[in-house]
Amino acid sequence: MTATFTIAIDGPAAAGKGTLARCLAETYGFHHLDTGLTYRATAKALLDAGMPLDNELIAEKIAQQVDLAGLDRSILSTHQIGEAASRIAVMPAVRRALVEAQRHFALKPPGAVLDGRDIGTVVCPDANVKLYVTAAANVRAKRRYEEIIGNGLAADYDEIFKDVQKRDARDSERADSPMRPAADAHLLDTSKMSIEAAFQTAKSIIDAALIRNKT
Ligand code: DC
Repeated sequence: MTATFTIAIDGPAAAGKGTLARCLAETYGFHHLDTGLTYRATAKALLDAGMPLDNELIAEKIAQQVDLAGLDRSILSTHQIGEAASRIAVMPAVRRALVEAQRHFALKPPGAVLDGRDIGTVVCPDANVKLYVTAAANVRAKRRYEEIIGNGLAADYDEIFKDVQKRDARDSERADSPMRPAADAHLLDTSKMSIEAAFQTAKSIIDAALIRNKT
């Protein structure tokens, strides 16, 4: 039996992995880290300081200073920061610095849920449970579109769809830690599944793993 229990959740943007990760962390009383926010915080610090986004040495220094306790989703969730985060996430030195902090977080007792793109493959290859949450690009674009409209803002579906495709390509085609399911990940396709159904499926997988971990 290991001292802590780690749940790794990966997948593309807007597949529902963030909501799932938060619900699971709450259910099991585990810590939760949205690792996308660590890339976003690095990108925001560079933008705020007027620094270039293509200088790996500078981006690495900033990444080393990211405080995991101070990540604020409401500030970091803008489209501009997401775009910048996706650009600096291709840099190996930035990834090294952030992965080190993420691994440290994953050790927090009694357990942790980490969500991102490379958790099951790189950050926590020995995680107790690995989930890969995905959905068709048009479904994810529609969800994002409805979320924006629901907040009373204007949105262009075609623009959002193109953006989702561009982000997927950048995240899955980069050389260092590309987005892909770990060989031992459970695949959850939420294209035709409600988040509640995805949650119940994930919960049965985790409950079974928790029992195995105790025996
Ligand atoms: O999930 P998100 O949109 O907040 O992530 C922002 C960017 O960070 C995204 O383009 C991919 C990158 N990212 C990554 O490369 N590895 C992670 N573990 C998490 C996010």
